[in-house]
Amino acid sequence: MPQNTNTFPVSTSASEIEPFRVMKILGEAKKLQQAGHDIIHMEIGEPDFPSPPCVHEAAMQAAEQGLTHYTASMGLPELRQALSDFYREFYGADVEAQRIVVTPGSSCALQLALSAILDQDDRVLMADPTYPCNRQFVKLLNAEPLLVKVDHHSRYQLNLQILRDNWQQGIKAVMVASPANPTGTLIEQDELLKMAQFLAQQNAYLIVDEIYQGLVYQRPAESVLAQEDLPNNVVVINSFSKFFGMTGWRLGWCVAPPHLIDILDRLAQNLYLSAPTPSQYGALAILKKANLTELERRRKIFEQRRDRLYDAMQNAGFRLKLLPQGAFYLYWDISEWSKDSEAFCRELLLNTGVALTPGTDFSPGQGCQHVRLAYTTDENRLVEAVDRIAAYLQTKTTT
Ligand SMILES: Cc1ncc(COP(=O)(O)O)c(C=O)c1O
Repeated sequence: MPQNTNTFPVSTSASEIEPFRVMKILGEAKKLQQAGHDIIHMEIGEPDFPSPPCVHEAAMQAAEQGLTHYTASMGLPELRQALSDFYREFYGADVEAQRIVVTPGSSCALQLALSAILDQDDRVLMADPTYPCNRQFVKLLNAEPLLVKVDHHSRYQLNLQILRDNWQQGIKAVMVASPANPTGTLIEQDELLKMAQFLAQQNAYLIVDEIYQGLVYQRPAESVLAQEDLPNNVVVINSFSKFFGMTGWRLGWCVAPPHLIDILDRLAQNLYLSAPTPSQYGALAILKKANLTELERRRKIFEQRRDRLYDAMQNAGFRLKLLPQGAFYLYWDISEWSKDSEAFCRELLLNTGVALTPGTDFSPGQGCQHVRLAYTTDENRLVEAVDRIAAYLQTKTTT
């Protein structure tokens, strides 16, 4: 074994990558659970339902038939076509299969898209708070994330006015998610179109993460791809992880404008060769209309949970600035209790057994006074979690 391995150089950009703090809380919560504590998990951003049985059957069948080799780097042609049909049928969007790139998770789709677009020192505008990995992906490419602080007045989202007000030289792309993580809020489609048109004038891209697309409540799911006159600067990111309940199958996709397809293909060929083959067969099965019924049932459960959790929080007197329209998160301003969300989450975990995610994952600016609650557990447990938190915070105010 070599001595003094710590003296060997490591990549500067990689060294600066921040940890995903939710994993730390998850680790601590699991340790407490193993020690016999009753932990309510509301920290991790993945559906608690198992992946649908039709996915398992189709993937197993593919494996048994020997379909375990690499696929084309852009994905199984049948899957790309099925996604194209899905866009037409459910979103009224005309998306050619050739524009769809199947990737190992949308995490990889985000990295492919950014790699195809960015040069060193380019800037990428994004909301603060936002999905934490985005700023790390940008930094890894030696580009610069520009975070714009947003609040409940814009539903924690960027909009055209915010883009105009914060525009500066060197911005090559803007990243948004609708519905968003950690806030569950949407950007209206006409606003997205205006943002894309403004960015086209600036020669910049709009990357729209639609990973929570199917998980919207009291309104139909939408895609920016259905907008007429959408300029060729829009890249859409999506995934089988959340609505389709397939996090561990590692499958996502992106829809890119035609001029990026060849470069995305070459990046895919070099970076990962192809997405997992059995997962792609599993995904083909879940896209069949009959199998989508189960996903609709699950969506309704998430909606009930959102309403129940939101009401329980309001009744406990906790400050929620808005009712989110999608995803499975509530974003809670804890400033009356703490200005250190990491310490607050640790304290709640130890004293109440409720695991939440500190806002610092999503927001270097205001994250210290926010936490994210994921309603990825049974409704009654969600209410119990709020009761436990309320009882604990009550003891703090009375002592
Ligand atoms: C907004 C957003 N985008 C992308 C991802 C990455 O998901 P996956 O790689 O499982 O598709 C996540 C995961 O939580 C997310 O919340």
